[in-house]
Amino acid sequence: MCGIFAYSGPRNNAPLLVVEGLKCLEYRGYDSWGVAYQAKGDIKIYKKVGKIGDFKAKDHKFETSSLAIGHSRWATHGGVNRVNAHPHFSENKEIVLVHNGIFENYLDTKKFLEKKGHKFISKTDTEVIAHLIEEHAKTHSFEDSVKMAIKEIEGRYAIVVIKEDENKIIAARKGSPLIIGVGKNEFFIASDIPAFLKYTNKVIYLDDNQICTVENKKISFFDNIKEEEVKKRIIEIEWDIESAEKGEHPHFMIKEIIEQKDTLNRAINQDPKVIEQVAKEIKKAFGTYFIGCGTAGKVALVGEYLFAKISKKHINFAFGSEFPYHRQFLTNKTLLIAVSQSGETADTLEAIEIAKEKGVKIVSIVNVESSTMARISDIVIPLKAGPEKAVASTKATTSQLAILTLLAYACNGGILEGKHLLINAASQINDMINPRYEDHIMKLARKIKNVESMYIIGRGMNYPIALEAAIKLQEVSYIHAEGFAGGELKHGPIALISKDTPVIALVANDDCKNEIISNATEVKARGGYIIGVSPENHEVFDYWIRVPDAGNASPILNIIPIQILAYQLAVLRKNNPDMPRNLAKSVTVK
Ligand code: AGP
Ligand code: GLU
Repeated sequence: MCGIFAYSGPRNNAPLLVVEGLKCLEYRGYDSWGVAYQAKGDIKIYKKVGKIGDFKAKDHKFETSSLAIGHSRWATHGGVNRVNAHPHFSENKEIVLVHNGIFENYLDTKKFLEKKGHKFISKTDTEVIAHLIEEHAKTHSFEDSVKMAIKEIEGRYAIVVIKEDENKIIAARKGSPLIIGVGKNEFFIASDIPAFLKYTNKVIYLDDNQICTVENKKISFFDNIKEEEVKKRIIEIEWDIESAEKGEHPHFMIKEIIEQKDTLNRAINQDPKVIEQVAKEIKKAFGTYFIGCGTAGKVALVGEYLFAKISKKHINFAFGSEFPYHRQFLTNKTLLIAVSQSGETADTLEAIEIAKEKGVKIVSIVNVESSTMARISDIVIPLKAGPEKAVASTKATTSQLAILTLLAYACNGGILEGKHLLINAASQINDMINPRYEDHIMKLARKIKNVESMYIIGRGMNYPIALEAAIKLQEVSYIHAEGFAGGELKHGPIALISKDTPVIALVANDDCKNEIISNATEVKARGGYIIGVSPENHEVFDYWIRVPDAGNASPILNIIPIQILAYQLAVLRKNNPDMPRNLAKSVTVK
């Protein structure tokens, strides 16, 4: 959650540069934003409620400055208003700070500081950190005060701090991303690389419990656990800036849906040695868990079905947030496979940490190769989908599904068969992502755009896809959508069906086909409006969206029309599909 961006260097338009950087990070948090900068020995703050993307340079005249920090917020503590927006001042207004994450024990510290006379103006946990640093700074240097303060913070965080009379930026992290962009005599500090990619492709990854100080064109690093200086490596990254921009598309979401024509092929084109190595680990393990959150969680659940069907292997599934309750089953023979786009999801990271404590081997299937998850895993299978910026995951989802399918085949000694199946599915995507197909879905979107509720049903490996379809529709259309296992309807949810309630049936040419059609027929008998997503038409369907017959790759193809439908509903309902209300791209809080 939240975007952080900071700059120190020779340019004298640092505040505006920070605003522009934050705009690239808006997908991380967009309820309010703010910038703090040094000007004439003073700290100036500018904050606003709303989306930073709406800000134009003419809206506010920043003074010249070559050192600035900024933040776009995804509120956890305290409502969305100007006072709670970051940056936050300390009591004496000398220290100012931006923060990503949650200071879990902030109430105790707040009480302690209040007794010492500190007065707080916001409801945030963040403001308490600024005051805590000030308290330490009464007797210690600025840097030491930051080091002392963060030792008192429980929870995951990334912070960036400046002080009125010191020409330096101090940044620290534990569990939330912070990356340093290294330019010529200048430094950028951001939550994600695309924010500074137009200035430099040289980066340094800050690790947990490390502090970085930028001062006088120099940067230094300190390990706050070992209490010693550390040397860090500069890495040149090869991302191209276009892949992180919208181009001619109105939204990132549709751009990323369309990109699936290529991203699926990139996912399939994995190093076979890595896939075989992971397959070997799965066969060797005494118990394998697939975990993930939200969409990645649904993908992990599809994985359970894929492995049952293709490699006849039982896999345990858990959502990242539920995994801790399985800890009693973990041993050093367990294997954990974490699925994630961002590699920064707090619940998944915490699950990995718990597993690591028990000696569990960790594999991650992750898009952001520089992420915390990738760096703490024993083996990484990269999605290679390129930056995914829309909050609703699309291209990362299908790449994750492709990799799990490939793994299931590899576990059964049939990696080539799996590859063949997936290459075929990837080529079939061209029959789906084209204007004619989109127009056909748009007709449906227009028909159902004002419904109150809709339901999605599936069976077997398309059951978790029904759950994923519901997330997609909820996230961007805000229509109440729920996914069910087809056979479960009659045990309760069928009571929700009334005349014309839209029910999407996800059908594949597999052993579930007749049963899911029967379930759709049961719904139709109660007045439901049946939308069939299926290779073949059927008389029970009131509306048919054709998907090519992709065999065991059907979950990959069946989710695509739903992604398109969700996007179109969002646009028709005048929602911003890239930045849905209340959500943020990476959920770095628990
Ligand atoms: C997907 O559309 C959602 N925005 C969300 O459920 C997401 O999949 C989840 O937060 C996990 O994120 P990750 O893949 O980055 O770990
Ligand atoms: N907990 C802080 C707040 O609510 C930071 C949230 C964020 O990461 O944006 O302001």
